[in-house]
Amino acid sequence: MEKVNLQQLVNETKKLASNESYYWFLRYIVDYLRPPTIVEIGTHRGHSAMCMLSAIKTDGHLYTIDVADDFKCEHSQLTKIISFDLDVDLSKIPEIDLLFIDSTHKAAHVRKVLNKYIPRVKQYGIVLMDDIKLNDMYPVWMELTYPKMELNYLHQSGFGVFVKDKPWRSFGIAQDKDRPVK
Ligand SMILES: C[S@@+](CC[C@H](N)C(=O)[O-])C[C@H]1O[C@@H](n2cnc3c(N)ncnc32)[C@H](O)[C@@H]1O
Repeated sequence: MEKVNLQQLVNETKKLASNESYYWFLRYIVDYLRPPTIVEIGTHRGHSAMCMLSAIKTDGHLYTIDVADDFKCEHSQLTKIISFDLDVDLSKIPEIDLLFIDSTHKAAHVRKVLNKYIPRVKQYGIVLMDDIKLNDMYPVWMELTYPKMELNYLHQSGFGVFVKDKPWRSFGIAQDKDRPVK
């Protein structure tokens, strides 16, 4: 066996942790919260969906939404919704316990996503937002008035979690045309 360079090992491990460890967090939070209804916006190839599915309990269900159909998986507790996120008929999905937002990472789009989906999140439901430091996303994150934490060690482009502890209408989202109607 070759002599191990411990410093290199540490550097590589740190890189791994900062790039990919939100996957482990997703698994952990599903295992910990046992949310009956999980909605993921942005499936891609299903890495995050698989992490959540691997921890889902028998009464849980994951709805995952993407414009593309790149996740070839069938599972009794999984519903793939192939659609633009803003076009999804949310009346067909139960109220949400855990929402993971990871589709288009642009402020204007994310505000619309929040306007559409947060009213469907249960009181004290948990919302995860990936890439909060990407593009022009950070001001949106900063505007949120819910109890929140940045877990940026989980992803180098930022990762946020907040609790919906009050109705959407008191949510301090940006004062622009996307502001929720009261
Ligand atoms: C960053 S990837 C998702 C990664 C996945 N959550 C993971 O961690 O493994 C973003 C995905 O969102 C999808 N997407 C982008 N804009 C979208 C939109 N407006 N509606 C639905 N899906 C969208 C893309 O097709 C892409 O597959």
